[in-house]
Amino acid sequence: MRRESSIHGQWSSKLVFILAATGSAVGLGNIWRFPYIAGENGGGAFVLIYLACILLIGLPIMMAEITLGRRGRQSPINTMATLSREEGLHRAWGFVGWLGVAAGFIILSYYSVIAGWSLSYVFRAAGGAFAGLDADGVRGMFNALVSDPERLLAWHTLFMIMNVLVVARGVRSGLEKAVKFLMPALFGLLLLVGYSMSQGHFMEGVSFLFKPDWSEVSGDTILLAMGQAFFTLSLGMGAIMIYGSYLSSRASILKTSATVVSADTAVALLAGLAIFPIVFASGLAPGEGPGLIFITLPMAFAEMPGGLLFGTLFFLLLVTAAWTSSISLMEPAVAWLVENRGFDRPMAAVIVGGIAWFLGLGTILSFSLWSNPIGFSLTIGGEATFIGGTLFEMADYLTSNIMLPLGGLLIALFVGWRMTQRSVEDELDLHSRVLFKAWYYVLRFAAPVGILLIFLKAVNLI
Ligand code: TRP
Repeated sequence: MRRESSIHGQWSSKLVFILAATGSAVGLGNIWRFPYIAGENGGGAFVLIYLACILLIGLPIMMAEITLGRRGRQSPINTMATLSREEGLHRAWGFVGWLGVAAGFIILSYYSVIAGWSLSYVFRAAGGAFAGLDADGVRGMFNALVSDPERLLAWHTLFMIMNVLVVARGVRSGLEKAVKFLMPALFGLLLLVGYSMSQGHFMEGVSFLFKPDWSEVSGDTILLAMGQAFFTLSLGMGAIMIYGSYLSSRASILKTSATVVSADTAVALLAGLAIFPIVFASGLAPGEGPGLIFITLPMAFAEMPGGLLFGTLFFLLLVTAAWTSSISLMEPAVAWLVENRGFDRPMAAVIVGGIAWFLGLGTILSFSLWSNPIGFSLTIGGEATFIGGTLFEMADYLTSNIMLPLGGLLIALFVGWRMTQRSVEDELDLHSRVLFKAWYYVLRFAAPVGILLIFLKAVNLI
């Protein structure tokens, strides 16, 4: 059955949905996570596998998530339950919604801490704190910040309050207003790329990003590339599903998805093109870790003319991009609390923000008091591997590389194999047989098989 609207509201136009979904997709994942994970995993080959995952797994699953959301028009948990009932399927499919809500809490908990770093850097940039710093100086500054739990707590708390304030106001006056600020972020990145090009190490950056060295690729590299594809597109946890539930029945799911995926990929590649030339120009290493952009970019801003202004603007844009992403991490759980527990929206937003805030303490302490990795050693195929890390590392690994792809796999199976083709076609409304067939084929075969093979490869089973 096609439903025309959700009790939570509706975007005022198709363009607003594109902005909101792009706002969700473009965030720390593109500008902070993509460069540092690509840097740690050798660049080129990782990037090409990531791009393949975006196209063959990400795009078809994004279309499937929007289709589900728009057909169910409720929180992902209730959408999955309702559609299962309607299609005569097992109730256990509701698990997909719960998995997503759990992933959303964990991601938001550390996402807010990293967004807090960005907030703090806005003030450092504006105060001229980068002036005259060399590589050791910026690294020292970053280390001093992350090893100070009280500071991190203050910024994390502030960022979480910013999220609660938006989500509490609802779809039209909260989410919709907030996302209209996003677009300048793209422009800011272009300026940075321009600067990078003028620094003489641009081609080195380009070749690091795009020239593959396949000998470096392990099962884990492929898993990380797929995890990054899910993370950056906000897929596999219901964020895009619930945004789809606020989309007008007339909008084209294919066109909107293609736009969002292209914009997100463009921003990630631009971020890489801006950052790696600076990394090489300043003699830093690509494998710097989560601090990569907080260490490289201040050096660039310290040297470039107008760096004070551009640096401040850049970190402001980073915060904005993070903000329009993190609200989408809250929305599925908030909508569920409103639907099933009778809370009003502000109360639901406070509860969700509060839980994620508390979980975030684990990430904060991962850089100081709890910075020793916890875990165990496992011998696979005669080789001892350490499984574990800090709470931050585990939260990030578990969500991006396991929970999101698993959620995506279940969504592909549900839409591709369990829903009737008639319902899927009816909601997706593609107007082209050929395009429908191509998408359906990729969703039923290529995407799930791809995810499964990557999982098996990562645990050395193939
Ligand atoms: N995609 C966002 C980013 O790249 C993060 C994000 C928002 C997200 N909502 C999500 C990640 C849902 C996974 C699932 O910064």
